[in-house]
Amino acid sequence: MTLVYIFIFFTTFITSLAPNRVVVNGLGLASTTAITYGTATVCGILADHQTQFIQCYRNNRTILVQPNVSFEAISGGKTFFCGLRSGGFSLLCWDTSSVSFNPRRIYQSDDVALTDLTVGDSQICAREVNSSIVRCWRGGALFQLPGEALKVKTITSGSGFTCGILINGSRVLCWGSNDVGAEIQKGFENMSMSSLIAGESHACGLSQIGTLVCKGNNDSGQLNVPYGASAFEFSGLALGANFTCAVRQSNGFVVCWGHSDVIENVSFESIVAGLDFVCGLARSNLLLVCWGPGWSGSQNDVPLGWIIPGPCVQTPCSSCGVYPNSETLCGGSGSICTSCQTELPVAVPLLPTNMPPQGSSSSIGRNKLLLALVIVGSIGAFAGLCTIIFCLWVGLCRSWFDNPESVQLTSAVDPNVGAPVRIENVPSGSSSKHADKTEEFVLAELSAATKHFSTQNKIGAGSFGIVYKGKLSDGREVAIKRGDTSTKTKKIQEKESAFHSELALLSRLHHKHLVKLVGSCEDKDERLLVYEYMSNGSLHDHLHNKKNVEKSSSIVNSWKMRMRIALDAARGIEYLHNYAVPPIIHRDIKSSNILLDANWTARVSDFGLSLLGPESDQEIMASKAVGTVGYIDPEYFVLNVLTAKSDVYGFGVVLLELLTGKRAVFSDSEEGTGPMGVVEYAGPRVMAGELQSLLDKRVGQPESNEAEAVQLVAYTAMHCVNMEGKERPCMTDIVANLERAVTLCEEEPVSFSTSTVSLP
Ligand SMILES: *[C@@H]1O[C@H](CO)[C@@H](O)[C@H](O)[C@H]1NC(C)=O
Ligand SMILES: *[C@@H]1O[C@H](CO)[C@@H](O)[C@H](O)[C@H]1NC(C)=O
Ligand SMILES: *[C@@H]1O[C@H](CO)[C@@H](O)[C@H](O)[C@H]1NC(C)=O
Ligand SMILES: *[C@@H]1O[C@H](CO)[C@@H](O)[C@H](O)[C@H]1NC(C)=O
Ligand SMILES: *[C@@H]1O[C@H](CO)[C@@H](O)[C@H](O)[C@H]1NC(C)=O
Ligand SMILES: *[C@@H]1O[C@H](CO)[C@@H](O)[C@H](O)[C@H]1NC(C)=O
Ligand SMILES: *[C@@H]1O[C@H](CO)[C@@H](O)[C@H](O)[C@H]1NC(C)=O
Ligand SMILES: *[C@@H]1O[C@H](CO)[C@@H](O)[C@H](O)[C@H]1NC(C)=O
Ligand SMILES: *[C@@H]1O[C@H](CO)[C@@H](O)[C@H](O)[C@H]1NC(C)=O
Ligand SMILES: *[C@@H]1O[C@H](CO)[C@@H](O)[C@H](O)[C@H]1NC(C)=O
Repeated sequence: MTLVYIFIFFTTFITSLAPNRVVVNGLGLASTTAITYGTATVCGILADHQTQFIQCYRNNRTILVQPNVSFEAISGGKTFFCGLRSGGFSLLCWDTSSVSFNPRRIYQSDDVALTDLTVGDSQICAREVNSSIVRCWRGGALFQLPGEALKVKTITSGSGFTCGILINGSRVLCWGSNDVGAEIQKGFENMSMSSLIAGESHACGLSQIGTLVCKGNNDSGQLNVPYGASAFEFSGLALGANFTCAVRQSNGFVVCWGHSDVIENVSFESIVAGLDFVCGLARSNLLLVCWGPGWSGSQNDVPLGWIIPGPCVQTPCSSCGVYPNSETLCGGSGSICTSCQTELPVAVPLLPTNMPPQGSSSSIGRNKLLLALVIVGSIGAFAGLCTIIFCLWVGLCRSWFDNPESVQLTSAVDPNVGAPVRIENVPSGSSSKHADKTEEFVLAELSAATKHFSTQNKIGAGSFGIVYKGKLSDGREVAIKRGDTSTKTKKIQEKESAFHSELALLSRLHHKHLVKLVGSCEDKDERLLVYEYMSNGSLHDHLHNKKNVEKSSSIVNSWKMRMRIALDAARGIEYLHNYAVPPIIHRDIKSSNILLDANWTARVSDFGLSLLGPESDQEIMASKAVGTVGYIDPEYFVLNVLTAKSDVYGFGVVLLELLTGKRAVFSDSEEGTGPMGVVEYAGPRVMAGELQSLLDKRVGQPESNEAEAVQLVAYTAMHCVNMEGKERPCMTDIVANLERAVTLCEEEPVSFSTSTVSLP
């Protein structure tokens, strides 16, 4: 036992490192600094002048770059760098191997603006603003791309190759003069990406579900994304020949992997990389700092003056806001917008205060937003939604409650039960029958139904006794749970309270994803509960039954089915947390408490351990943590603090069971390890983008659209098992993600590509 707990702690320690930040700065945005690595030249667009002109530094010398006009972005290659003039209608490049840095015009137009300038070692690419079509040049001449009129969201260039993320399907497409691009494209072939940055021969980006993934050359471990590092954590990336560096969103500090140095304890706005050195724009003073073996300067600080952290624009900034002091930085000629993830929708309308007071349109709007948030995979959205739930929970938002949508959601609750009930006051027996429409049985009837509680009829053991299958005299099949009478002396008190608590709770709960209580029986020492019979048994049995060995051996061996089961169960738990009055924390969510009825609809069962939820979001203290090894929330176990997020943890473990087919705690005979938690097993692999290697082989590799659903579920699961309860999502957000996953599974593979990015 002790061993297992140690594993759990170890596991959760690791998951606590998992990221939970909102992406505010997008990756892969055009930069205001550039490195021309072949000549160790660094350049920046200067701030605090009326025109945002370029200045460079090389060989202990500052070089003024002509013409003295405003630029919005610059990007460097091996021996030259290029700049896009403000507005995007003109593109100039400068050869840094010459002394004079003579400009050369590559592009000029009156009506087609460019953006996303990216320079590889010798190729230059940019994207047309309005059409999203890519244009590339090499040796000053426009060259044709594979497939005409490629439409991309973003582009990035490495040594000899350029990659883009196609608008249609979010897949990565690479082209260029060597095989590296092809290898990178192959690495990303099954992933939907939202951003991408290339190094010399590798590329990293944020997948649409939020994991940071690197592909390509790994000779120095530059693909070795630190475990727990998703791009939610990072606001910038810079890739060189043998390393990858990222800026931590929270404090601006740089972390690197592969072959590289870092500058510690300095906060950066953004970073750029050459082959073997990195430069960053220091957050404190907007000065450029460079480091690395290839950096030839005598010191780290580069004497270039203030550099703008983003382009100066005349148009008002969108929802993501204005950079502090930006009028000054732009010399009075515009302002700098804080960049956002391109697709990040505005999260603000999710807050109840901003919701329309009434009207049916709000429900549609909210669903769209949920969908949008799912696609971005933003945890910021989780925070927003949690606020809503919190609001429901503490009952502060009566007016919001009053709108038709909410009433519909709460209508399943018995209207007589407004105030929180105290367990000991709950009537049992006939009065409960009257109030809650459950039947009262006599012992003889139940004994007959189960052949006198014969072992033949035994189907399991719950939290307060043994469960028998029974057939009532009227032919109904039921599951009868009998309080364990053999150990009378032991903790009678606890059992008594479990009985009454379950009775009190269950008789009030009506939901299609909860196992329904048919009735009860109280006879001297005997306590029995009668439930609907779930003819297809527990999820645990389907997943871990020895007979389930190949795809055809269980109906549960399909991704579509597993996603559906997850969604059903999540809806049941969501009901307990958010719509039951008072809210209920189940306390023992595990696969053996998720049952399947004759229609294969999943339902949550066994409320013997349930406690009435706290009346506010405050934690309540239980005398002793209860639950099941492998599923128990570490925070609850260690600190004895119980919240709805403890159920979320258990549910995360169930999701991992569904994905991997492994038990919550298992011994891996293949790897010869001792008992291992599924969280510990799956966590590092999911975060490293190696999900495919751990998927349940009995189900097989998911098809293209299923793959995205599976990724989404995996990522949701990782957030559910975060060590810190407050970092875990609410059930509402989990339900939204699972709805999305089920939809993806049900779509025809053909329509896959159009489904991903069609957001409002
Ligand atoms: C740059 O200047 C420093 C002193 O100012 C000198 O020590 C160093 O050698 C110079 N480096 C080059 C490449 O000229
Ligand atoms: C460019 O022109 C602006 C005024 O338009 C001036 O403030 C700035 O000093 C000039 N920069 C250079 C490098 O000449
Ligand atoms: C882009 O399209 C908008 C409207 O579709 C148009 O007003 C604008 O002039 C176009 N801009 C460019 C640079 O083509
Ligand atoms: C998207 O790509 C698929 C094939 O990958 C193609 O069948 C479909 O027509 C494309 N859609 C659009 C709008 O280009
Ligand atoms: C992508 O999916 C296909 C088909 O499922 C599979 O054969 C291929 O190995 C996958 N590629 C990667 C890089 O995982
Ligand atoms: C990259 O190389 C490191 C060792 O340098 C290795 O641990 C890691 O698994 C490799 N990653 C990939 C994705 O191949
Ligand atoms: C990258 O690493 C390889 C092998 O580790 C080495 O041969 C090469 O010189 C390195 N490149 C740079 C630019 O440091
Ligand atoms: C960075 O900060 C940490 C903690 O404050 C300190 O231990 C470390 O020595 C610092 N590193 C440098 C290079 O200053
Ligand atoms: C699932 O339920 C259906 C309907 O009751 C039944 O026909 C089927 O045999 C059950 N399957 C299993 C594996 O119990
Ligand atoms: C199964 O589905 C049918 C039709 O939808 C319904 O009539 C029946 O009640 C369902 N059975 C259970 C056990 O939910």
